Formats: sequence, C-alpha cells, structure tokens
Amino acid sequence: MYCLHRMMMIVMGFNMRYLDLRRKIRDVRMWAIQGIAEAGSGHPGASFSAAEIMGTLYFRRMRHDPSRPGWEERDYFINSKAHSAPGFYSTLAVAGYFPPEEVRTLRKLGSRLQGHPVMYSERQKNYSVPGVEYSGGSEGMGLSVGIGIALASKLDGKKNRVFVLIGDGESNEGQIWEASMAAGKFKLDNLVTILDRNRIQQDGFTEDIMPLDPTKDKWAAFNWQVFEVDGHRVEQIVDVLNKAAQVKDKPVMIIANTVKGNGVRHMANNPQWHGKAPPKRHTEVLLEELESECLIAPSIIAGERENYEDKIRKVEREGVDMIHIDVMDGRFVPNTTFFADKIKKLRPSTSLPFDAHLMIEKPLEQIQEYIDARCDIITVHAEVCTENEFREIQERLIANGISPGIAINPGTDVPEWLYRCLHDLDVVIVMSVNPGFAGQKFMPKVLPKMVEVNKKLREHGFKGYIEADGGIDATTLQQAYDAGARIFVAGNAVYGGGDIHGAVIQLRHKAAVALERRLLNHATQLNIRPDWMKARKHILIPYANELGIEEELHAVK
Ligand code: DX5
Ligand code: ZN
Repeated sequence: MYCLHRMMMIVMGFNMRYLDLRRKIRDVRMWAIQGIAEAGSGHPGASFSAAEIMGTLYFRRMRHDPSRPGWEERDYFINSKAHSAPGFYSTLAVAGYFPPEEVRTLRKLGSRLQGHPVMYSERQKNYSVPGVEYSGGSEGMGLSVGIGIALASKLDGKKNRVFVLIGDGESNEGQIWEASMAAGKFKLDNLVTILDRNRIQQDGFTEDIMPLDPTKDKWAAFNWQVFEVDGHRVEQIVDVLNKAAQVKDKPVMIIANTVKGNGVRHMANNPQWHGKAPPKRHTEVLLEELESECLIAPSIIAGERENYEDKIRKVEREGVDMIHIDVMDGRFVPNTTFFADKIKKLRPSTSLPFDAHLMIEKPLEQIQEYIDARCDIITVHAEVCTENEFREIQERLIANGISPGIAINPGTDVPEWLYRCLHDLDVVIVMSVNPGFAGQKFMPKVLPKMVEVNKKLREHGFKGYIEADGGIDATTLQQAYDAGARIFVAGNAVYGGGDIHGAVIQLRHKAAVALERRLLNHATQLNIRPDWMKARKHILIPYANELGIEEELHAVK
C-alpha cells in the first residue's frame, strides 16, 4: 500500500523532496518565531504544532498557485484554528504568496498580517493577505465554511478539494459537531479535515477542561473516514493525504497527534506557551535552535546481515528519523551489500524515509532502479561522477520527488563543479571513514574539512544538510555536530551491541547536549546567559553535569 501511495503521489505531481520539505517547514517555524517575538504577542504553541500539517499541505499536497491566489482550480485551505496565524502566514510566505520578511510585521499597525487572518470582501480585497480564504478568530466556524465550499464544488461538478485545520480546544464548540453531522450527511469526499491534536488549549490540557476522547470513535460515529498519524512526521502526513484522496462517499478526518510548541524544547507541551511571545532578545538563540534540528539515520548493514525488516522495525520503535541504506557494489568499495531489488522489498515495511547511499561505480547507469525502489534520498559519490553525469542524476531525482545528495570520501575534496549544482542539492555526505564497511573507526581528520565544506557551501547558497557517515557514536557525534553535521548515520553504534534502545537514547542525548552547549554559548555572546538559563531551566537540568553548569543552574531562580 505504502509504495502505491508514493507512486501515486509522483504521478499526481506531489513530488516535493523529503529533505527540502523538512527544510521549508523549519523555515516556517523560524519566520513565525521572528514575527511573534517582534510583535511581542502571538501563538507559538499552535503555530508549531501545526507546522508539519500546513507545510505538507502547501509544499506538497495542495493544488495551488501562489502567483494566482484566486485560481479557480485551486484546492482550498481553511485555517479554522486561526490563532495559528503566525505559522499560517509563514507557510504562505515560504510557499511564495508574499516575501517572508513581511512576517516580521505581524500584528503591527498597518500590517496585513493581523493576529487572526482576515479575508476582506471583493471591494476591499487589497487589504487581504494573498492566500487567506477565510476570516478566523471565532473558534468553531471554519469547518462549516469548508463544508460550504466543498458542497458548492460538488454542485458545480468541480474537482477542487477542501482542507480544513481545526484544533482540539476548538472542538469544544457545538458548531464543530453540527458541521460534522452535515458533512457526513452530504458524503463530502472532497473535504479533508485535520485535527491538530496537541491536547492543550488556552488554559490547560484539553482532557482536563473538556475531554475529547475517544476522538476517533466520535468522528467515525458521525460517518467520517478517520485516520490517525503522528502530526510531526511529514512522511506519515503525505501518506495519509494520499489515502484520503482515495476515500469515496465520506468526508475524511485526520487526527494528527502533535505537540504544542514542538521545535523549541522549553515551549513544547507547555500550556504557558499557548499564546505567549518569547522575549525579543531570545530570538537569535531560538532561531539557532530551530535551525539546528538534527536527524538520526541508523545504517542497517551494521550488525547481523539478515532480517533487515526486523532491524528497521526495531529502530522505528525508537523514533529514529530515517533509515540509512548502504548499497555497495564490490567495485567502488571492496564489499557488496545489496541492490535496488532488496530496497524495493524493504519499502513496504515502514513509512520512514529511505536514505540510500550508493557506493557504486556507475551511478548514472543504475539510478533508475533506485528511483523505482522509492528511496527518499539518493546520494551518489563525487569520485565517480562528472559534472554532467551528476546534473543528469540530480535532474532525474528532482523530477521524481527524491532528494539528491553527493558524498565525498575522506581523501576527496568538494569538486569545483559542485558549486554549480547547489541550488537543488539536499545533502552532502562527508565520509568520516573510507567507505566499505560498518564498524570502522571515526577519522577525526575529516572534522576540519567538514567545517570548511559547510562554510564554503553555505557561502555559495547551499541550503541542504551535511550528513556525517562513518564511526558515529556517542563519543564522536558531538564533534561532527560542532563541525556542522545535522544528519548522523550510525551503524555499529546502533546495531553493533545488544541494546538498540539504549544506543538511540545515547545518540539523541549527545545531540541534545551539543545543541544545549551551542545555544548556551550563543546566549553568552549575546549577554543573556542567565536569562536564557532561566527560560530553559527544566530542559537544562538533565544535561547540567555534562555541560558543567550544575551550580550555575542551581542558582537560577
Ligand atoms: C560506510 C557506510 C556507513 C557505515 C555506517 O561505508 O557508508 O554508512 O556502514 O556504519 P558505522 O556507523 O558502523 O560506521
Ligand atoms: Zn553510508
């Protein structure tokens, strides 16, 4: 099923690349927090819980055209939980409806971007924000509006689809349930409603204030087709939206389990941050945190060379971000693992993105097989590509919605031609061992190169991720992190011992320590260290010893 949905996505043209999608959503959070901090008010909690939902819709799923907001064929998005406005505006901006810098005018006098989005009448339409289809603020009404549009489309025989985002606090409103009955009655299969199930509303936790559970059963009882996903996993959102498109004669409810404030650790799952702005002086550090998001990608060739499905399942349970798949052909490297046919077989076992690292002599000749195997990221080696070959690979991957990557061995420098291909490059793997085998020792000599490569690539406009591959474990991760890596491949560290659970916890812990240290240093440079530590106290406590700040933290009141 999974493969089928991915295939359809490509056929239907929803081919935004995984890492590019993640990066855009990261940018959305970064713009939103700047707007909120500048304004001194706004809702970071709801903007962040819904960031992946809105991002996946706008950057990957919806038919829309930022240069023609009123395009007749467009899909509609109704942001019923309108207080997520900073996230919504930022999504529109990153999608291209207006320049993102405008988000900094949020809630200012004279700005189009007010606390709750407004859609003006035809006569005053110049005041409207391009892309906003609905004036929100009073909770509970957006679903009814969405139903109206969906009904009208059906009556007109049009293909437009309607996506409505509602909140769980908002679901206290009676109108939501009246609307729910109506959508069921009219069998609106062109309507998809997404519930941002972050379990927090204005004054506290939803289940204390007005319990919503069993949410799934309620919507099903109102004749909706109900799905449930992790609302921060874009791959799950993409898949469920594809499933939703297949549902007939029923409206679709997607319960997206989310965390309010997700992305900034001290804001996460804390009702205090429902509608509070961070102090403006924290902005730079917060931006750094959002930008420093890191991904863990276990390499399944490490450990026993069997039961790959089972190995994938084991790390999936640990909440890793991707599966790293090392393809070795026995020619480019002195070892053979498996090829595209095996990846194809593994594909249905998980919705986690496949990060395929092709250590093969002639990547261009075989690239189609790996595209067909539905990898999400495909990285080839610079040592075996000319500029033209890589350009062709890159083009084909992009046309198929796959993130392209390039890898360099410890002894290889970034080829000059790569600077001409950065625009659509999503990942650069800087190998920290000579490729060929899992379980080798990390080569610290690649660290200065990683720093240099990162710096130079960024200067030339590279927006993708640096991936560290080879010998990454709890002792080396932090060095690679400090050198600029944000994707960490870990083979032996995860599968080499008997304790996968402990290994992943350790890696995450080390990444968190590296992040907290970085943020603290930044706060120190900005002269806001005590203040930052105060805001961050409960997050810093578990790392205090490793950061050497126990006494200092204890003194923070
Ligand atoms: C090396 C591979 C790596 C490696 C990772 O040729 O590309 O992905 O197997 O395994 P560890 O983390 O054990 O080095
Ligand atoms: Zn690898």
